Amino acid sequence: MTSVATSISLITRAEAERGLKGSPGASAGSTCGADLAKGPWEFDAAEALRGLPAYGPGASVGDVAPASTPRQGQLPQEYRDAPEAELHERIRAAKATLGDRVVVLGHFYQRDEVVEHADFVGDSFQLANAALTRPDAEAIVFCGVHFMAETADILSRDDQAVILPNLAAGCSMADMADIDSVEACWAQLEELFGTEPDEDGRVPVIPVTYMNSSAALKGFCGERGGIVCTSSNAATVLEWAFERAQRVLFFPDQHLGRNTAKAMGVPLAQMPMWSPRKPWGGTDPETLQDARVILWHGFCSVHKRFSVAQIEKARAEYPGVRVIVHPECPMEVVDAADEYGSTDYIRKAIARAEEPTVFAIGTEINLVNRLAAEYPQHTIFCLDPVICPCSTMYRIHPGYLAWVLEGLVEGEVRNRIEVPAEVAGTARVALERMLAARP
Ligand code: 13P
Ligand code: SF4
Repeated sequence: MTSVATSISLITRAEAERGLKGSPGASAGSTCGADLAKGPWEFDAAEALRGLPAYGPGASVGDVAPASTPRQGQLPQEYRDAPEAELHERIRAAKATLGDRVVVLGHFYQRDEVVEHADFVGDSFQLANAALTRPDAEAIVFCGVHFMAETADILSRDDQAVILPNLAAGCSMADMADIDSVEACWAQLEELFGTEPDEDGRVPVIPVTYMNSSAALKGFCGERGGIVCTSSNAATVLEWAFERAQRVLFFPDQHLGRNTAKAMGVPLAQMPMWSPRKPWGGTDPETLQDARVILWHGFCSVHKRFSVAQIEKARAEYPGVRVIVHPECPMEVVDAADEYGSTDYIRKAIARAEEPTVFAIGTEINLVNRLAAEYPQHTIFCLDPVICPCSTMYRIHPGYLAWVLEGLVEGEVRNRIEVPAEVAGTARVALERMLAARP
């Protein structure tokens, strides 16, 4: 049996149209859209024509991008036309010229052709820390999504420029909680619970935001005694919050919040969901009074694709298979899996396995395929038979990376992400609480 080593970015148009073959878990082995064979700049152009932002092809293609979602101007023609080999050569040359003046960070979900140029590759928590380890670099080029670049800007020195190679690389889940809706929710909760601490000094409610959120929401948490979490420290952060509050308002990912709180023993009945723009968030004051965790109605379209049926199929085909999923998956999927954890947890679990093992993984396809190529002694496949990457991670392509790096060589900072100082100050407080929280 072979491992899967298909890179999304290497899909040719013909392959995308007829569907890729080779995944042991795949029945049809199809992709979720023929558009994946196109360069991301084709979507920048389409957006400019229509005047509407979109996430591009991939798992969140059906999600509605808010009007405020950043857009990417058209990539100059020479980068769109350049053959892949030439782009790699230009990226290497620009990095060699810049030396220690630049650091390139790459999230695990990036395509291989981008990851190969990254100085650090990791999950969002590790990359937030990595940004701190290079205080001498003038520029941090973040090959990831918008909220990650914002976080790097908040944590880095003011004179360091954080660059997102494609401004349209957002996160559809992060966009599901906007500051106005969260403030409206908070006002209702404060009216209902008041602000007085109980006899143990615990305030009625504390806000916790997932790293996958705008800087404005991190600032909101910083100002109100709240904190940030990532998928690798969510339980530690919830414990921190329960020591200080009777309840938690958790946004934007309902699944990470529910899976983490459930594992800590919080009953589902005490985890109502808050849907923005509905009276009382679609729940009622009595349920909210009794709540331990109020879950925002947000989700990741990549992880929503995983199902219990896929796990059952993997178990039927591969008795003894180890099923590991990301905690952004729905609760039933996490319950049916053998283990769950952040992208780094998944990577380490595979790295630690001594005997040849069959792994069925529930997370983004670029990471799964890279792990399959890296550990050929194991059989590693994605639970989802349809190859469907994160639409926004897909937006970063070597063409954009070459464009921003060559800009730096010419003395021009392109696509800088700058969080306004008044937001960055309070967001930093919430991030520093997270970095200091210990199990
Ligand atoms: P990690 O924190 O596990 O890297 O996850 C980030 C993310 O966006 C998952 O969808
Ligand atoms: Fe956002 Fe999901 Fe993509 Fe992660 S995988 S960046 S949560 S859309």
